[in-house]
Amino acid sequence: MAAQTLNLLLARCGVVDPDSITDYEARDGFTALRHAVEAGPEWTIDQVTRSRLLGRGGALFPMGRKWATVRAAPGARKYVVLNADESEPGAFKDRKLLEEDPFALVEAMAIAGLAIGSAQGYAYIRGEYALAARRFQAAVEAARARGYLGASVLGSGQPFDIEVRRGGGAYICGEETALFNSLEGRRGEPRMKPPFPVTSGAFYLPTVINNVETMANVPHIVRMGGDAYAQIGAPAFTGPKLFSLSGHIARPGVYEVATGGTLRDLLDLAGGVAGGHSLQAALVGGAAGAFMTSSHLDIPLLPETLAPLGLTIGAGSVVVFNETVDMWNVTRQLAEFFAEESCGQCVPCRVGTQRQMEILERMTAGESRPGDVALLRELGAVMTDASICGLGQTASSAVLSALNTFPLPAGVGGHDA
Ligand SMILES: Cc1cc2nc3c(=O)[nH]c(=O)nc-3n(C[C@H](O)[C@H](O)[C@H](O)COP(=O)(O)O)c2cc1C
Ligand code: SF4
Repeated sequence: MAAQTLNLLLARCGVVDPDSITDYEARDGFTALRHAVEAGPEWTIDQVTRSRLLGRGGALFPMGRKWATVRAAPGARKYVVLNADESEPGAFKDRKLLEEDPFALVEAMAIAGLAIGSAQGYAYIRGEYALAARRFQAAVEAARARGYLGASVLGSGQPFDIEVRRGGGAYICGEETALFNSLEGRRGEPRMKPPFPVTSGAFYLPTVINNVETMANVPHIVRMGGDAYAQIGAPAFTGPKLFSLSGHIARPGVYEVATGGTLRDLLDLAGGVAGGHSLQAALVGGAAGAFMTSSHLDIPLLPETLAPLGLTIGAGSVVVFNETVDMWNVTRQLAEFFAEESCGQCVPCRVGTQRQMEILERMTAGESRPGDVALLRELGAVMTDASICGLGQTASSAVLSALNTFPLPAGVGGHDA
């Protein structure tokens, strides 16, 4: 079965003028916000809950539960945070939404603000995303001038406004608690969880933090209703899903499909492996993801089918490698990435990512030592179990996946099967 392509989240991308609020208004813009104002916060949260939307930032948390918990949390000050840090290697879907349909995200954040009872939102936009930040900032100002943001959103009497903050230039700043620290002007290091952001987020106050793609679904859920939205895609992972395809693929780009399609569907959509080459592997889910090969082509890209195989959708990035690529070289580079990006706060990750990188450097230089493969597996287990945050917990994922997928580099298997 071919992938069911959709055109919801990307419908305005490349069509609407991202700098024109009137163009956005002419294309259904702000109708969802208007509807949410009229229907009230309980209705909105009920729709988001009924949509059964799981967060698209990688952790798959139910959006409705997050919003309802923050709405119910005591206290007058609450925050909405848009996680637009998108630093996962191979991921660029959020960038497309930010650059090409920024008003939709402003509208979604305003709906979130009114629903959870927050007067202030922050958009934390990756430092390198200059165009995205400029367009989003301009969209905020235009929306404010039209009364979609400000002291009384659309005359509702409820305030909500958005401030843009730029990312600190580190992969870890996308992790929600590190993001809060960075947003507050501190070093972007993760905090211990619990407490979770729903009770102690930005400025240690109840906070809804959502990924850009997750947030982009909100106006659609409000417009079509949560039950109708939940009919899209697979029952346990509803809705449209964006995938960023790159590497040795004929037509790299961002693709929107209904959840439940396979890797084969995605590759076909993007024209297949480029230049008549064959698929060696695809890194699915970014640096924190794992390798899929031709044996995985027909498995639905769903949490329940991927997780038992040690695979993940992550943030929806798919990097394709043809048969000419030295996959151990790729794996070494991934290990270098984690060693570079570890914030250094906890020992398993700080030391583990370094040792992991050194072993892979030895292995790819033909200098491996007896016990290296076993040590890689042990390091992986310790980092996964004992690291404070998701970076350390997933830093060995691709490495362990490579060990289970590719023949060991020359000279390694001899003394270290
Ligand atoms: C190391 C690391 C980096 C992350 N980077 C991002 C990111 O760039 N964008 C994002 O939305 N979530 C990122 N996350 C996930 C966030 O911590 C959080 O789960 C997400 O913002 C929640 O939004 P969602 O429920 O809409 O997915 C990252 C997590 C980890 C552990
Ligand atoms: S797991 Fe790594 S990135 Fe996360 S807090 Fe520990 S050292 Fe920092």
